[in-house]
Amino acid sequence: MPEQSENEETTLKAIEIRTFGGPEGLAVVELPVPAPAAGQVLIAVEAAGVGGVDTVIRSGALAAYGFKEGFIPGGEVAGTVTRVGDGVDASWIGRRVWAFTGTGGGYVEQAVAPVEQILPLPDSLSTVAAVTLGSAGAVAHFGLRHARFAPGERVLVRGAAGSIGIMAVQLAARGGAAAVAVTTSSAERGERLRRLGATHVLDRSGQGGAEAPAGHDVIIDIVAGQDMPSFLDRLNPNGRMVAVGAVAGQPPADFGARIMAAFQKSISFSTFSAATVARADLLAVRGEQFAAAGRGEIETVVHEVLPLDEAVLAHQKMAAGEVFGRIVLTP
Ligand SMILES: NC(=O)c1ccc[n+]([C@@H]2O[C@H](COP(=O)([O-])OP(=O)(O)OC[C@H]3O[C@@H](n4cnc5c(N)ncnc54)[C@H](OP(=O)(O)O)[C@@H]3O)[C@@H](O)[C@H]2O)c1
Repeated sequence: MPEQSENEETTLKAIEIRTFGGPEGLAVVELPVPAPAAGQVLIAVEAAGVGGVDTVIRSGALAAYGFKEGFIPGGEVAGTVTRVGDGVDASWIGRRVWAFTGTGGGYVEQAVAPVEQILPLPDSLSTVAAVTLGSAGAVAHFGLRHARFAPGERVLVRGAAGSIGIMAVQLAARGGAAAVAVTTSSAERGERLRRLGATHVLDRSGQGGAEAPAGHDVIIDIVAGQDMPSFLDRLNPNGRMVAVGAVAGQPPADFGARIMAAFQKSISFSTFSAATVARADLLAVRGEQFAAAGRGEIETVVHEVLPLDEAVLAHQKMAAGEVFGRIVLTP
């Protein structure tokens, strides 16, 4: 077993939100290398995922929730455990792991994470693939489960071009959906989504020509926003819409009234957050998905790998809407 050694580096490079607002508010900073506290591990980061929520935190939109300038974004990393805190099995040292760092703390060369939030990586899975799949795959899996998706049902993934949507499309197709419709903004993206399992490509408003499905049993909605009520109307009787994201913001205030207006169709609407799933269940599903991706059964779609220093560029690409899949930062 590798020995726990004193870290030779005393400082690390990190990306902090220096000023709320646009991507240029991100800055490279030098910080002391943290010592893992009891129950934590220190990870030499090889890959950090860039999530949509990172950009929302950077914008300052969540300042009312306690996020302050100086915050380090990034919720998931993968790399090698280099040190462990008190109470943590030293056999973790030297192991390749994926880690959930929380709402932030991932855009760093060395990250701390609670040991219960790390998962060993199969040799067959790269660290870049792990941070592309880790959070998004679980949201897609449990989102579909929350929607009580069953084989033979017709699914719509709204906002399918992001990391969650790409996984939802693949899981619905693999799970025996009769149809997997997607909304996306371009024909080129539609073709890419077809290769991942989509059967019907619709535009952002849900239009898709004569062959568009008349209705859906399940809608996995990553978009929300002003157009959301019109998608309620596309649910089949007993259909279920589950909001797993809100990249276009809140739905209109009369959204609840639109659900009641469809009373006789017995439709359901719910939100879904992975925060409500037991940690052990999340880890178990991630482990299965990592193994499946390692076997090539699930595709991890990496838009681009950029150096950590280029976090501003990564966020600019996110803001420009040009990301299909995930951007990954590598220290
Ligand atoms: N439920 C959970 O536990 C959980 C966990 C993590 C994150 N999240 C949430 O998931 C969301 C991010 O997911 P993601 O990274 O997969 O998404 P994303 O990449 O940010 O966006 C998904 C797609 O939505 C489309 N889109 C963007 N703006 C739109 C608009 N105004 N109207 C219609 N379509 C639009 C874009 O595709 P096209 O251009 O092709 O249309 C985009 O690629 C965030 O809301 C985040 O808070 C939820």
